[in-house]
Amino acid sequence: MMQEKQQRLENIIKAMTLKEKVAQMLQLSPSFFDSKSEGVITGPMLDMGLEEDIDSNAGSVLGWVGAQRAIDIQTRYLSKNRHGIPLVFMADVIHGFRTIFPIPLAMSCSWDTELVEASAQAAAREASAAGVHVTFSPMADLVRDPRWGRVMEATGEDPYLNSLFARAFVRGYQNNDIGEPDNLAACVKHFAGYGASEAGRDYNTVDISERMLREYYLPAYKAAVEEGAALIMTSFNTINSIPATANVWLLREVLRKEWGFNGVVISDWGAVNEVINHGVAADGREAAEKSLRAGVDIEMMTSEYVTHLEKLVAGGKVEEALIDEAVMRILELKERLGLFENPYRGADPEKEEKILLCDEHRKLARTLATRSMVLLKNDGVLPLAPEIGKLAIIGPYADANHILGGWCGDGYDEEAVTLRQGMVARLGEDRVIIAQGCGITDGTDEDIRMAVEAAKKAEAIVLALGEHPGMSAEACSRAFITLPGRQQELAEAVLRLGKPTVTVLFNGRPLELRDLAEKTPALLEVWFPGTEGGNAIVDVLFGDYNPAGRLTMSFPYTVGQIPVYYNCFSTGRPEPRGNDAHFYSRYLDIPNTPLYPFGYGLSYTTFAYSDFALNRGEMRPGEEITASVTVTNTGSREGEEVVQLYIRDISGSVVRPVRELKAFQKLSLQPGETRKVSFAITEPMLRFHLWDQSVQSEAGRFIAYVGPNSAEGMEIDFMLIK
Ligand code: BGC
Repeated sequence: MMQEKQQRLENIIKAMTLKEKVAQMLQLSPSFFDSKSEGVITGPMLDMGLEEDIDSNAGSVLGWVGAQRAIDIQTRYLSKNRHGIPLVFMADVIHGFRTIFPIPLAMSCSWDTELVEASAQAAAREASAAGVHVTFSPMADLVRDPRWGRVMEATGEDPYLNSLFARAFVRGYQNNDIGEPDNLAACVKHFAGYGASEAGRDYNTVDISERMLREYYLPAYKAAVEEGAALIMTSFNTINSIPATANVWLLREVLRKEWGFNGVVISDWGAVNEVINHGVAADGREAAEKSLRAGVDIEMMTSEYVTHLEKLVAGGKVEEALIDEAVMRILELKERLGLFENPYRGADPEKEEKILLCDEHRKLARTLATRSMVLLKNDGVLPLAPEIGKLAIIGPYADANHILGGWCGDGYDEEAVTLRQGMVARLGEDRVIIAQGCGITDGTDEDIRMAVEAAKKAEAIVLALGEHPGMSAEACSRAFITLPGRQQELAEAVLRLGKPTVTVLFNGRPLELRDLAEKTPALLEVWFPGTEGGNAIVDVLFGDYNPAGRLTMSFPYTVGQIPVYYNCFSTGRPEPRGNDAHFYSRYLDIPNTPLYPFGYGLSYTTFAYSDFALNRGEMRPGEEITASVTVTNTGSREGEEVVQLYIRDISGSVVRPVRELKAFQKLSLQPGETRKVSFAITEPMLRFHLWDQSVQSEAGRFIAYVGPNSAEGMEIDFMLIK
């Protein structure tokens, strides 16, 4: 930051009272700042023990309010704030703002970082016009447990892919300059390891070795930080028995010292106060002190800082310098956002009117939704023929508009295109039969019977099934990850008709699909596809777009296998090749492998891999090996394939995963077209965290795999010589 600006901020801090400084560290919802509450200590203020002047001194706002209200709140605030420090508005802009893109887990299945970046940019354009400055995104938490409802916000189980997507989101929101009114500052979350909550139960304990944390869980947050994310949010969980929000090692040692992060650290909602429940602070006073010492600059939605920090400083328990440091970071953020120059930065009612849900954004949402869908099974039913006669859409999602998914910002269900609407636009009213059959969680025998009757009249059937979006969100863990209610029964009743049937699934997490997958001729995972969902599904069902999504999270056979993920270790007793062994690592009732592995997804065409070769069998640091493979579209349609390169380190000083994704290329091939795909294998790709946490490669033998997913492919050995 320029000297002059820095000086200005320092002067402001010097002129501030301790009380004013501490207030900057508090984040409150917009209602605290609204004119309605003028001069009155409202209920929530009383509950939080806040004084009246908090609405002219608290530093930031949580939640969007729309351009005009943001302007009003800012004007009123600035008329009362003694130092002319503007408010910063932060909100959860997770997968779109008004135009809603597919949920992040879905977007990641596109394996298309450019499209994801474009979606973040579109979201930033919309949200900033509505007065938002900072988004609480990306969520870089690595996930392995589909019971956890928040896997819908993640980009999957692979640290490399997660890092690419974390970077793409940050690039999209910030667009290289958070000072530009069209861009948002990105707050990467939840630091750290929130995705590893025990048993998939939200907010639960995380107990993880430092090596695992560094090797798998930290890379994506680090990538976001390297990409320039302006803020980071602490997580609710413990790390090594200390809540992340009070964790000096995590926030000061790793984040600030090792990674050189100098942006703002914000607690998650109420997380400062929650360290009391965790049991590392006896009361609010201790919670405030511990969180401040750990380096949390902003306390979200609880008031331990404003209640206790002044007294802690007065009593000599806490150094004022710690508070000055935090306030400086908050003011620097406001400065970088350009708020001192223009406190209304971005907020523009006219632009808001024009840009929110504009055609360009809707188009992008439709494209991204088609790219996110994963074809899990197809016995030849798909794509549907354009000249098809009557088509029945059966199930609770036949005409449901709650398809945006959790954290859908300012998006409205009424603005989403339902599957029925998409299908009617394609086939006309007369050719589309609709029957709900049952609700998501309930249903009667009679409704199921009527749906079967309706299905009988059709030439082909689409079963539209799934979870409610409220089942896959924060505080929405599920112990049974099957289709809820009577949907399986409905599906079986319809499938018994023996008609060409495709099942379309709306959900936010990998589900247990064993029975359904066996019985349905075709299975298309559409996730929560966002505003343009219905249109995008129809694009895929009719083959206007040939699906190319690939799973970024394994689908287990059953919940008893969880966690099941591809980049695991071999046991000392892996599955033997012969069948005479008994004492090896396995279940008696299911395979060790998932139903659908990481990287898996089908197409309406087929691809053949041949001529996998390495240009040399060994390399030294500084050199590279070129791996090449020939991929041919052996089917009759144009299609995209995601060619994946995995590596296994055969012997290390610590155990290495059975496979790790190292690179991939998404290519489009015409029928019969052949392309040679090359990957460079370099020594840095072979590095990992050693026992002492240093990152190094080790000489020895490696296996390179190239193939269509993490469970298939061809392999060749090579050596790293050192
Ligand atoms: C969630 C965060 C979110 C915050 C603000 C919390 O409950 O864990 O992901 O950003 O609320 O809405």
